[in-house]
Amino acid sequence: EEGDNFTSSLLTWYHRNKRDLPWRSLSENLSPTDRAYSVLVSEVMLQQTQVATVIPYYTKWMARWPTFHHLAQASLNDVNEVWSGMGYYSRARRLWEAAKKVDGELNNQVPLTSTQLQEKLPGVGRYTAGAVASIAFGERAAAVDGNVIRVLSRVRCIGADQTSKVVLDHIWKLSDQLVSTEEPGNYNQAMMDLGATICTPKKPSCNSCPVSQVCGAYQRVQLTNPLKELQAGSKPD
Ligand code: ADE
Repeated sequence: EEGDNFTSSLLTWYHRNKRDLPWRSLSENLSPTDRAYSVLVSEVMLQQTQVATVIPYYTKWMARWPTFHHLAQASLNDVNEVWSGMGYYSRARRLWEAAKKVDGELNNQVPLTSTQLQEKLPGVGRYTAGAVASIAFGERAAAVDGNVIRVLSRVRCIGADQTSKVVLDHIWKLSDQLVSTEEPGNYNQAMMDLGATICTPKKPSCNSCPVSQVCGAYQRVQLTNPLKELQAGSKPD
């Protein structure tokens, strides 16, 4: 399979370099519903807020409302107060609405697939559903956000408008092919770490990149400017 090299290189790198983040230490003992909750809270917070900002908010939120049931008992005022400083308050309200739905209508049984999560939970779109299903349940589902769009556009030399529907459809399809069967949650989080720390919008660190050997943009730069490495002081092969 074409993506095997990309996927296995990425995962090997992730196991050595993954960031130690509070939502990455899920207890094995949590029920599926509680696992989904702890991942959902992190993913909704991370949608429009940087990792470093999210960490203290996430820790405080989870200490106060450790399950959907706890959050469902809260008032929207309290929810907004704890959210205060992260902005985009509709995210907090939708989390709270999702908690009330899971706790009430769904009898504390969270939908167990990416498709069902999107259908049943307010404010949960394709990205969030894919992230929750892969990280919490091990479903082989892709999760495409801005980082993933940038990384795959470079790897596959996609120069066209990255906001156009055809390009997005293509990147989702590509992601569905690349996502690891064995470790889909780690694959998705590896893509996020790669985009945040190596394949950054400006001045990406291609010399430290685990997938540079299968990256079209990187190979193209090497072809265009083969002396680059020599000029940078490294030895030729
Ligand atoms: N950005 C979005 N989701 C993330 C995650 N699970 N870990 C790190 N960064 C993220």
